[in-house]
Amino acid sequence: MSPAPRKRVAILISGRGSNMTALIEAARAADYPAEIALVLSNRPDAAGLARARAAGIPTATVDHTAFGKDREAFERAIGAELRARRIDIVCLAGFLRLLTPYFIAQWPNRILNIHPALLPAFKGLDTHARALAAGVKIHGATVHVVVPEMDAGPIVAQAALAVREDETEASLAERVLALEHRIYPAALRLLAEDRLIVTDGRCVIADAANSDDFIVISDR
Ligand code: GRF
Repeated sequence: MSPAPRKRVAILISGRGSNMTALIEAARAADYPAEIALVLSNRPDAAGLARARAAGIPTATVDHTAFGKDREAFERAIGAELRARRIDIVCLAGFLRLLTPYFIAQWPNRILNIHPALLPAFKGLDTHARALAAGVKIHGATVHVVVPEMDAGPIVAQAALAVREDETEASLAERVLALEHRIYPAALRLLAEDRLIVTDGRCVIADAANSDDFIVISDR
């Protein structure tokens, strides 16, 4: 039997694109079930665009400022780029625009996002500073399926670490980011292998004998 065709993935970014790079590197492996077919930025100056081009990945820019308040027109332009590349799965990686229900409905359970906190705690911005201010002892990152509500949606993968007594926002950001780079490729693998079953607002994972890739408890 020939192997299943690799799923075609678009990564949407707004900035430096370190998670994007982790996904591109994972997809280089011959047995990875997805290929990165497009990197799209809403900001023409996103550093990640140059990184993607250097890795030989096609890029596109859809500048949201050109669409004023018309979010659907912005999303129609993104959709056109995705369809032109026959994209199956969308990965948000530091993409700083909220997507409307109109867009999300076109990729049902086919859009992933990575969030730098252990959802459902610390939705929104400045997660590391808020975690420190709250005095939590465990913090981390989450990959989830995107739904219209921000930073909600069925959880696919999580990574946790112990917050150190001398922790700063910068040290926490650096340590969590390293974990993000581990769980995002693992989460995309699950989706690309059709192993995510979304039911009652949660993800059930098929054939999950080994969950070490997508549930990470860091010992560092
Ligand atoms: C990451 O912390 C991610 O969790 C959040 O935005 C940041 C993006 O960083 N959604 P990068 O562009 O992937 O380096």
